Amino acid sequence: MIGDKKVILSGMQSTGSLTLGNYLGALKNWVSLCEEYECFYMVADLHSITLRQDPAQFRKSARNLLTLYIAAGLDPHKNCIYFQSHVPQHAQLAWVLNCFTYMGELNRMTQFKDKSAKHSDNINAGLYTYPVLMAADILLFQSDLVPVGKDQLQHLEITRDIAQRVNAIYGDVFTIPEPYIGKAGAKIMSLQDPTKKMSKSDENPNASIYLTDDKDTVIRKFKRAVTDSEANIAYNDEQAGIHNLIDIYGACTGKTPDEVVREFNGKGYGDFKMAVGEAVADTLSPIQTRFDELSKDKAYIDSIIKDNAEKASYYAEKTLRKVMKKVGFTEKIR
Ligand code: TYM
Repeated sequence: MIGDKKVILSGMQSTGSLTLGNYLGALKNWVSLCEEYECFYMVADLHSITLRQDPAQFRKSARNLLTLYIAAGLDPHKNCIYFQSHVPQHAQLAWVLNCFTYMGELNRMTQFKDKSAKHSDNINAGLYTYPVLMAADILLFQSDLVPVGKDQLQHLEITRDIAQRVNAIYGDVFTIPEPYIGKAGAKIMSLQDPTKKMSKSDENPNASIYLTDDKDTVIRKFKRAVTDSEANIAYNDEQAGIHNLIDIYGACTGKTPDEVVREFNGKGYGDFKMAVGEAVADTLSPIQTRFDELSKDKAYIDSIIKDNAEKASYYAEKTLRKVMKKVGFTEKIR
């Protein structure tokens, strides 16, 4: 708790362009939480170097992501938006937690298995211990809730296991966090293969909608979206492509799957795809306009980066000191 508010932490990796999946599964849900919770949203740049990055591009993507958080509606005076690398306590706590995490647990992580299959030339130790850094991110703020898409649930589970293990040894050290999954858009699938999640690392650009895509591109990608030959707009697991389009349309318009099915009853796939494209373009357009405006205001973004890193460090240091003391490190002479 901070004051009388429960704490939220979440973050995104700062590589490449965000997808509609990142937006509908996570970012969109973050916006309304700040009235009720004390919210911390980091640009997870330490996580990003588990894959090789070009330095100039990496720096640019990280700043763009922070700007996009604000453009998507996160008020930086009500939400603590910061770069993970500006708060060294993340890495410090991760080291401690590494010593309380078993290799057997890390071996089970599906994201590690997927990423090491994709990047077999660079299976580094950071990729392997990535979930421990993520646990450190969450536990550092004594977070109660972690708003993420469904693909992050396994990482939340290991975070809870690590926290419970530490608490069992040293007493009450960490708050045990819960995942917070939004009602709509928790798992947006690829437009080219609706059995796979939409991912920014997909090699086929038609598989993902990027938040930077203009209206024509959005509509073209939806027109090409893979569906089925049923010619019937229904919400079931057999029609994975249509299921995904219903989820996307519902998440953008606030309608339930039933309402969407009723709205398009008797209509063809062509009409439906067009409507989904329009709804997505209408959702993205104000974010893109705001992003362009904010990007020009260097001084404003710089001030947010500085002030919020100080705020995050203050709370992070409190937890880190507690952990170091409980584990038995000698306290610094101040
Ligand atoms: P990342 O950067 O892969 O994704 C950021 C957020 O977007 C969600 N997401 C999706 N939701 C629905 N459908 C999709 N297709 C989709 N793709 C991505 C993810 O669930 C996530 O919420 N390890 C994290 C970043 C991270 C983090 C943390 C998150 C680092 N530390 C601490 C929460 C708390 C990641 O790689 O997310």
